[in-house]
Amino acid sequence: MKTIIEPFRIKSVEPIHITTRQQREQALEAAHYNLFGLRSKDVIIDLLTDSGTGAMSTWQWSALMVGDETYAGSESYYELCATVKQLMGFRHVIPVHQGRAAERILFQILAEKGSIVPNNTHFDTTRANLEYLGVEALDLCPGYALDTESDDPFKGNMDTAKLRELLAGAEPGQIPFGLLTVTNNSNGGQAVSLANIREVADLYHEFGVPFFLDAARFAENAYLIKTFEPGMQGTPLREIVLEMFQAADGCLISAKKDGLVNIGGILAVNDDRLAQKVRDLLLLTEGFPTYGGLAGRDLSVLAQGLREVLNTDYLAYRHASARYMADALHELGVPTVRPCALHAVYVDARKLLPHIPPIQLPGQALCCELYLIGGVRAVEIGTLMFGRHDPITGEEHPASLDLVRLTLPRRVYTQSHFDWVIEAFGELVDRRSQLRGYEILQQAEFLRAFTAHMAPIPETRVDDYANGCRESTPLSP
Ligand code: F0G
Repeated sequence: MKTIIEPFRIKSVEPIHITTRQQREQALEAAHYNLFGLRSKDVIIDLLTDSGTGAMSTWQWSALMVGDETYAGSESYYELCATVKQLMGFRHVIPVHQGRAAERILFQILAEKGSIVPNNTHFDTTRANLEYLGVEALDLCPGYALDTESDDPFKGNMDTAKLRELLAGAEPGQIPFGLLTVTNNSNGGQAVSLANIREVADLYHEFGVPFFLDAARFAENAYLIKTFEPGMQGTPLREIVLEMFQAADGCLISAKKDGLVNIGGILAVNDDRLAQKVRDLLLLTEGFPTYGGLAGRDLSVLAQGLREVLNTDYLAYRHASARYMADALHELGVPTVRPCALHAVYVDARKLLPHIPPIQLPGQALCCELYLIGGVRAVEIGTLMFGRHDPITGEEHPASLDLVRLTLPRRVYTQSHFDWVIEAFGELVDRRSQLRGYEILQQAEFLRAFTAHMAPIPETRVDDYANGCRESTPLSP
């Protein structure tokens, strides 16, 4: 059979509330045109994120019932440790409530004000946690990574020439550790090749810099390595995963993605002294190190999720469903980032809406219109999320790309839900020249995309609106 089906049956269902356009107009205005401000009942198809939004398997629901809720020494913790060690090979496995908790703890221990931390591309919380400590978060992705039309299967790679130059020129201690994000979420969800992971690891180690993988989507990255990296087709996925992690000294994992859970994270390291420091700091805010801010049942469910995620039928279906969406959008003339990732389809909003300049947030314009047409919630990954606002001059510096991410929750939506999204895009494409840009009215100092208040730029001001966000005011803390 050539048809790829959802390799699961649906046992429990959640109703979707179908709204009218008028209801959506009111909801969007009340949310200050920020889709993070919407209530879930006002969303028909929610493609905001693949983080913690997946459906659990029957095995996971049953693991939830046997979770051990002991404060210290929970059996669920030991089950998780054994699973992570088998899969990834690290000596110390420390649970945390989600990825950014791992970031905060590790960065606080290792990074000092004024230091530099390189990455292929930092995710927004990773960048924010570093910048909060006065650390420079440096992205070193190769030039070709920004070519959204190139079909290179490993556009998530780090530019190793730039990394060598940085490491060779740095003062001792200036680079306390290095990162590599798999898959490269901020850059179209593109994969990082095993060759690149090894090369990056060798470089960090040559200069005595500890190396951590930001591995939220490790299984999807391994699947893309197996599918596209020359010579890897015969290698079992488990072996690829182990090789990816063995190249690193530790990892930070938001388990809300490939852990197939609704909440959870992992910080794993090999260094005994570092592990002790992590546990000491963890006690301050996350809880005792054998539960790390999670319930015992969460740990058991995560262990089970990690045992499931490398199923090749599941990963092949996930890839096929993302490609189904990307191919249909392509037919409609909607430019998407190529090649298609697994966790999302990224639309190039700057190319789709060339009449809206980047500082007028073409990605946000697209997100709002998509919501109004079909109740579809997507997320802007562009100037709103990564642009720079100078609070003194009021000047706005655009991000290098203006993308909109249609993020696919795991095991949640079926092909007809995707057809709904595609139909909404059809309508949007027909009206695209009428779409207007947005201005930011209020923004926070960090992670502004989550809370910014915005408004469509009035028709009468479109032409003379030279500097989109000049009048924005900081949100009070
Ligand atoms: N690293 C990467 C690569 C991520 O994609 C995320 C989260 C994090 C770290 C932080 O993890 O949310 O568990 O604290 N990404 C989500 C997203 C939020 O929508 O892409 P977290």
